[in-house]
Amino acid sequence: MSPAPDTARIAVIGAGPGGLYFAALAKQLAPDREITVFERDAPEDETGFGVVFSDETLDGIARADPRVFAAISAEFARWSDIDVRYAGEVRTSGGHGFAALDRNRLRAVLRERCAELAVEVRYRTPAPPVDRLAAGYDLVVAADGIRSGTRAAYPESFRPDLDERHCRYMWLATDKVFEAFTFIVERYDFGVLQVHAYPYSATRSTFIVEAAADAWRRAGFEALAARESARGESDLASVRRCAELLAGHLDGHRLIPNASRWIRFTTVRNAGWRHRNVVLLGDAAHSAHFSIGSGTKLALEDALALAAALSEQPSLDEALAAYEAERRPVVESTQRAAQASLEWFETIGRRTGQGVDQFAFNLLTRSRRVTYGNLRARDPAFVDAVDTAFGGSPGVPPMFRPLKLGALELRNRVVVPPLATFTSPDTLPSGFDRAQLTAHALGGAGLVIAGMTAVGPEGRATDRCPGLWTDPQEAAWRQLVDAVRAVSDTPLGIQLTHAGRRGATAAPGPDGVGRPLAEGWPLLAPSAIPWDADSALPHEANDIQLAAVTADFAAAAERAARAGFDVLELQFGHGHLLSSFLSPLTNRRTDGYGGPLAHRLRLPLEVLTAVRAVWPTGRPLLVRISASDWAPGGTTEEEAVAICRALAGAGADALDVSTGEVVAHQRPPYGRGYQTPFAELVRAATGLPTVAVGAISSSDDADSVLLAGRADLVAVGRAQLYDPLWTLHAAAERGYTGPGARWPEPWRAGSRRPPGPSADRVAPRLHLLREPPAPVHRRWSPPRPGDTPEE
Ligand SMILES: Cc1cc2nc3c(=O)[nH]c(=O)nc-3n(C[C@H](O)[C@H](O)[C@H](O)COP(=O)(O)OP(=O)(O)OC[C@H]3O[C@@H](n4cnc5c(N)ncnc54)[C@H](O)[C@@H]3O)c2cc1C
Ligand SMILES: Cc1cc2nc3c(=O)[nH]c(=O)nc-3n(C[C@H](O)[C@H](O)[C@H](O)COP(=O)(O)O)c2cc1C
Repeated sequence: MSPAPDTARIAVIGAGPGGLYFAALAKQLAPDREITVFERDAPEDETGFGVVFSDETLDGIARADPRVFAAISAEFARWSDIDVRYAGEVRTSGGHGFAALDRNRLRAVLRERCAELAVEVRYRTPAPPVDRLAAGYDLVVAADGIRSGTRAAYPESFRPDLDERHCRYMWLATDKVFEAFTFIVERYDFGVLQVHAYPYSATRSTFIVEAAADAWRRAGFEALAARESARGESDLASVRRCAELLAGHLDGHRLIPNASRWIRFTTVRNAGWRHRNVVLLGDAAHSAHFSIGSGTKLALEDALALAAALSEQPSLDEALAAYEAERRPVVESTQRAAQASLEWFETIGRRTGQGVDQFAFNLLTRSRRVTYGNLRARDPAFVDAVDTAFGGSPGVPPMFRPLKLGALELRNRVVVPPLATFTSPDTLPSGFDRAQLTAHALGGAGLVIAGMTAVGPEGRATDRCPGLWTDPQEAAWRQLVDAVRAVSDTPLGIQLTHAGRRGATAAPGPDGVGRPLAEGWPLLAPSAIPWDADSALPHEANDIQLAAVTADFAAAAERAARAGFDVLELQFGHGHLLSSFLSPLTNRRTDGYGGPLAHRLRLPLEVLTAVRAVWPTGRPLLVRISASDWAPGGTTEEEAVAICRALAGAGADALDVSTGEVVAHQRPPYGRGYQTPFAELVRAATGLPTVAVGAISSSDDADSVLLAGRADLVAVGRAQLYDPLWTLHAAAERGYTGPGARWPEPWRAGSRRPPGPSADRVAPRLHLLREPPAPVHRRWSPPRPGDTPEE
């Protein structure tokens, strides 16, 4: 490897872990380089407590610079357990692999390494203005931390987005040496306090206290924090109050402040990481909530990637592009996990009704990175205990537990959600509908719901959607249900809808979008607002039309019952007619059907009440909602809860919690399970069973959602189009053969996973002595004098 020719002189702003590690690595790779690090603080200035790493990061550090690794690993506190202390009890999950050390020791090791390598680190020296540095050096690395001045200097290139969150937290240390990563969740009359604590030496632990904004205020911290104190001083009154409130966890030990004040976490994102020859690194470029312990790790990984790119790429331009291309996806993935984790802690009050086992599992799986499957692999006994508390028996994955919905017993927790086929030019269910529903009914899910079916001709979304407003349609659905019943007893549902302003489009093309029909039909909506600039203008519905909509839903529900469906789902989401009455973005009416939420709810509740009156008692009635519009001014979380409570009051048996598709300018944060927090919100607020849906594709994720109590059922859409036998295959892969996964009798011979090409390749023994498996539980126990340090 040779360095890019144009990086002979490098300036680094900031001697945090990111800046120092980068300087050391870049110098090692090209000893002729001149590297100068500017640091405004003195080397002895204490700036933090303990830094915690996972095994994965350590592997990278070990390989990149074995000397740094040897120096820091000699000082590591190591352990494998996570303790969750909640409601007076403790649950422990093992097998995780952590190493921590004093943040100042990390900086000291990096500082010494820089000195050895002849990197010049100028302490007590604020960096010169960045444009001057950029003119005098080939490359300026801005590792100047979360409040980066460099980032602020070039906003048009970096396009920063600073998202300040509302929880308050405070970094503290304690001389109580915790034995494991410890989450403390304590309930008080003012709300919840949570603590993230971990040991980092023989004598100290980090102890971060955090509270949601309202709990923080009610606890009186706001008043304490408002007292005047000089910059750098700690808010000692708050520290004392924390020590009192958490005395039960400190066992007589002290809380040790260091410039400790209540702060709010800011998630930093930048659309670009470079401005000409200036590049951002570490917290300056991105931050990740401390609850996943990744700030220092990301900074070190950035340093490694940037130093490598400078040597691997032929020019500075290409090196900076390669650095950003390599790091951005990793950072964004970590930020997604961090976002899920911080939101989990912000809304912790939703879960404090849970039992300790489920709560602990919920906490551990909060970022979606840790799942049922990997917790089981790390510590089977922990997951067995949670399984048992969930009412199951060890060895039965949560998705294969039955659920009673109304009078209906579902054999497992997997739902095939409505998946329209757009194959009905004549409004009758098609041969393809029959094939698809049969395939899904045979595929093992506990419930299969037929796609959107219009309650009237003008309620169709496309000119290839089926309906249920005529006798021939009812007869065709009856035949379809009978045909599926002939081969499967899986319960069948149907989704009824009026597409409202989303109607009269062509069936979606390969890009998933259906354009407006040239010759459509009149569209009905709460207000005359088209879906987008290309769409037809809908009519504002009058009272007579609204009454007709209600009557159409009730009539279609009666037909669905006669056709033999076990379950009915009403489409109150995705911008269809009833959804557009609920959302303030699409409902601008000023009569009794618009304005305040109670008015916007009026038509949906009239429809639900009319349907409930005719839909047979005992057969479950589901309602699908969009719990967020993903657009400013749209349905809020509080409104989503109020809507769901009202739907529960009007007779919904369960809520299918989707989001979005209400307005064309939506910006959903797509990602694995991204809608699931809404199912959890609704479940906690209404007590009704909920269906989680959206980018849940693996059985492992399904199990995690269910066991954490985020939802009662999991709907898997596209993954069951990919593999209609998704549920049965999940059972086969996990060796589950119980009643939750029933193979069709004629297919029984295929109920085991077929052997792959490696089946007859038998691995020889390669070790003379097998290494004993690592113990599941390892707790931090500081070495006593005379102990030999561990590797
Ligand atoms: C109070 C506090 C405690 C923390 N404790 C922990 C912890 O225990 N464990 C953990 O993993 N993470 C902790 N973090 C987060 C962690 O500090 C960061 O994620 C990590 O240090 C990022 O490394 P960095 O090198 O990008 O930035 P930083 O470590 O923030 O380093 C930036 C450096 O740049 C210097 N600087 C800024 N501007 C200039 C300038 N104009 N001229 C010269 N120098 C400048 C700063 O003085 C600083 O030393 C803590 C953060 C805070 C605020
Ligand atoms: C081909 C297709 C058709 C769909 N049809 C409907 C529908 O008729 N009604 C509805 O509410 N959602 C419909 N959806 C949305 C799904 O029910 C589900 O909410 C969505 O696909 C997210 O789940 P997934 O990520 O598991 O696929 C459809 C999705 C797809 C891919």
